[in-house]
Amino acid sequence: MIRKKNGSVSTMFREDSLKRMLGEDTPFVIREAYNYFRAKLMFTGKGAKCPVFVFTSANAGDGKTLTTINTALSFAALKKRTLVIDADLRNPSVHRYFQKQNVHGLSEYLAGIIDAPGIVDTDTEGLQLLPAGMIPPNPTELLGLPRLGEMLQQLAETYDVIFIDTPPIGLVSDAVSFTAVCSGYVLVVQSGVTRKQELREAIENIRAVGGSVSGIVMNDVSGKTHHETGAKEYRRNMYYYRYENEEAKSE
Ligand SMILES: Nc1ncnc2c1ncn2[C@@H]1O[C@H](COP(=O)(O)OP(=O)(O)O)[C@@H](O)[C@H]1O
Ligand SMILES: [Mg+2]
Repeated sequence: MIRKKNGSVSTMFREDSLKRMLGEDTPFVIREAYNYFRAKLMFTGKGAKCPVFVFTSANAGDGKTLTTINTALSFAALKKRTLVIDADLRNPSVHRYFQKQNVHGLSEYLAGIIDAPGIVDTDTEGLQLLPAGMIPPNPTELLGLPRLGEMLQQLAETYDVIFIDTPPIGLVSDAVSFTAVCSGYVLVVQSGVTRKQELREAIENIRAVGGSVSGIVMNDVSGKTHHETGAKEYRRNMYYYRYENEEAKSE
């Protein structure tokens, strides 16, 4: 865990993560799994010209970010104009996968610090990125602003599909801010680690605010089991820390 000067905490980004991005060297079975998932997702866009899918999971480290990015890469491979938005304002990491700077991002746009979201090209044709931006003290509040829906409406004019990476729904409520402005949620389940009850609660949290689940992705990070709770508690603590920190500030 790295504790930064501003009090935020982030996971260690492993350089080998880049190798897990879909590409020419990706094993056939993994490419096929993403193709299959892409085909399924296409049917759940509720007929929207530009469907917006929000990725979340019960806990940190389940593979939300990697799954968001790989799904986006697989749509871009079909020549779809694709945008990935990093809305994990607590622990931004999408920009790291694309080796881009985390500047002029979503948080700054929502806060009114910049007039236009700083969307950047990636090395993949047709795939663009809106980084998270500076870590704000009030992520839930920012994501609750009408500016978010207005921005997505405008972006829908330019793209064929939008994917949004968010923090774990089991730990903080940021992901539910998208209910009214997305086509559906994708829940990432970490094989052997996410408990059934956690998945059930995640689905209930989404449905309780009128959202719908478009898909569930089973991600097998490393064959961990939930008996290895040490690593998991560490990740949980990471998010709890941010959360508590935020609560303390708002008092
Ligand atoms: N299926 C997988 N196989 C191997 N490593 C994975 C897999 N999915 C995710 N990872 C790795 O696990 C770590 C956490 O994944 P990440 O997508 O950042 O999780 P989250 O966004 O849910 O916190 C990253 O280093 C990522 O590269
Ligand atoms: Mg993530």
